[in-house]
Amino acid sequence: MSSVPLQHQRVLSGMRPTGRLHLGHYHGVLKNWIELQHSYECLFFVADWHALTTHYENPQVIAESVWDMVVDWLAAGVSPGAAKIFIQSRVPEHAELHLLLSMITPLGWLERVPTYKDQQERLKEMDLSTYGFLGYPLLQSADILIYKAGLVPVGEDQVAHLEVTREIARRFNHLYGREPGFEEKAEAAIDKMGKKNARLYRDLRRRYQEQGEQEAIDIARALLEDQQNISLGDRERLFGYLEGAGKIILPEPQPLLTAASKMPGLDGQKMSKSYDNTIALREDPAVVEKKIRTMPTDPARVRRTDAGDPDKCPVWKLHEVYSNDEVKQWVQTGCRSAGIGCIECKQPVIDAVLAELKPIQERAHEYESDANAVRAVVNEGCEAARDLARETLDEVRRVMGLSYR
Ligand code: TRP
Ligand code: SF4
Repeated sequence: MSSVPLQHQRVLSGMRPTGRLHLGHYHGVLKNWIELQHSYECLFFVADWHALTTHYENPQVIAESVWDMVVDWLAAGVSPGAAKIFIQSRVPEHAELHLLLSMITPLGWLERVPTYKDQQERLKEMDLSTYGFLGYPLLQSADILIYKAGLVPVGEDQVAHLEVTREIARRFNHLYGREPGFEEKAEAAIDKMGKKNARLYRDLRRRYQEQGEQEAIDIARALLEDQQNISLGDRERLFGYLEGAGKIILPEPQPLLTAASKMPGLDGQKMSKSYDNTIALREDPAVVEKKIRTMPTDPARVRRTDAGDPDKCPVWKLHEVYSNDEVKQWVQTGCRSAGIGCIECKQPVIDAVLAELKPIQERAHEYESDANAVRAVVNEGCEAARDLARETLDEVRRVMGLSYR
């Protein structure tokens, strides 16, 4: 019996299309997605509207990056058979949910999100005092809640957005989960589970509500997950009834923290386009080689005969990502004793990066020469995503009183 409710097994994540992807994206995000796609139902999307919140004056980069990014995903190993790949703006339901959620979102919640002020400070060259930018975390909430995603793989910087999402879901459920006769309906639903399960459910609910036993609620949720003969509506009621609230219409997602990838760039800082220290996934192999060959090393090692300190060298950081213990030992001893030269030291890194990129670039070339195949993948993903999104939106419209339309 799984203790994880079904809805918690849908994974959703998005990326803004602002340029070609590099090894930082691969190690920090894509490898994680690729692993997840085999264990969960995964939805990965191009957050083009989110890109527009900051790039509205120069939307050309977005247009150029959308397809490049999808090609990079596919090349890296995101599998259209295992995950749905789509474009945010092709699922307009996100926008309608964003609008509807905006009705219940206090301004202060958005103004207090740390990224709001931080980004305005950091991106001084852009005017980010817009309505759209303030709504960034709300749009992200709509992205997540419209699929009732349970898990959202994100980096540390996005945790605050997940927190807003959870608060909005809670508020929504609180406001609209209270249907008339909720308790009677919930009690009737319990009886539909059969005598034994009904007794178990009531007992677990009491243990959770009276003693706050986390284990009791986990088991109760798993019990609900296993019920074959209750309707979806009843199941949602019973999830809500466990906590004493109303129906859970929009479940609260959990962040799935990607182990802070510290993929080092060519200068030892984190790899990032803004530091101009990247190796693109589709970087020409000759350029890859050149970029690594010309990387800075321990500045104290001026001559070949000077001993060096790997801890002060960006190349060492790449060895930590790519090299086995034997090679690492060779670097440590060789560098500290001036036994090896820096060019020599860089060679295993060059080889490892090229070997990693080779299959990625081969797949990228295939997709580059078959734009129709890429479009087909995205079309299919968009349609599948829309089907899911429509279901949630129907329910949301109904509970918000918009069923007269
Ligand atoms: N804000 C995210 C980022 O900058 C991108 C994003 C948009 C996203 N919508 C999302 C991520 C929904 C996860 C879920 O990386
Ligand atoms: Fe850096 Fe290697 Fe040169 Fe030492 S030998 S300074 S680790 S490149």
